[in-house]
Amino acid sequence: MKELSAPLITSGLKTTLIGQNVLYYPSLSSTMDTARREIKQGANEGTVIIAGEQTGGRGRLKRAWLSPRGNIALSIILYPDITALPYLIMIASLAAVQSIETAAGIKTQIKWPNDILIDGKKVCGILIENEVKGNKVSSSIIGIGINVDLDVAGFSEIADTAASLTSKREKHDIRIKMIKALLTEFERLYLLLPDGKSIFEAWRARLATLGQRVRATSGNLTIEGIAEGVEESGALAIRGADGVVSKVVAGDVTLREK
Ligand code: BTN
Repeated sequence: MKELSAPLITSGLKTTLIGQNVLYYPSLSSTMDTARREIKQGANEGTVIIAGEQTGGRGRLKRAWLSPRGNIALSIILYPDITALPYLIMIASLAAVQSIETAAGIKTQIKWPNDILIDGKKVCGILIENEVKGNKVSSSIIGIGINVDLDVAGFSEIADTAASLTSKREKHDIRIKMIKALLTEFERLYLLLPDGKSIFEAWRARLATLGQRVRATSGNLTIEGIAEGVEESGALAIRGADGVVSKVVAGDVTLREK
């Protein structure tokens, strides 16, 4: 597989903010850490850090994220208004869904809050790290990892739960088209803010979680029931067997058999 490069991503990219500055590294520990260093050095909004591979990729809830060569691992630097924060998850997941559809022709679903699934298996994960001081956001780093060419069966820890878009047998590298589509769609949605309503509606329409029996964990709390709806804040409403509706703001859900 060909090495990616910044010019391969930026050539013909029709954005005005996201991806105006692309930094490509063949190997990084985590694009999140490199993004944080770039922020300290005054990186512009929309700067994108891309790694050919990550040796210390991380996921949500302190999990590790596997990203050997052949996959997509990138972080986008933003300086958003505080009112934008609930929408960043929605923007990132919608942009990922769109980019996978554009470049791979595969339809995916979103599992609340921001896992991208193919037939129930995770193909893309999103990690957002915000730095907030008082009521001001100093920075947001949007980390997106897509399993483009991952030997899922070769990693026992994810063999049953993860999916990959292609396999080594395919000669055609879809990553450049996918990253371009991702940055373009991310920008389109980001520029719709502060009117987040349409972003929320689009995200809700793609959520596989609604109407499903779920188990949600948030910190030490576990809630089981039917996922009844989502709020514009991103919170998930779950109706338990006792009829009581609980709202989960952050955490993880497992879809259960009905
Ligand atoms: C998750 O589903 O738990 C989130 C996974 C996020 C992975 C991406 S890959 C690019 C960026 N750098 C990281 O170390 N993590 C994110």
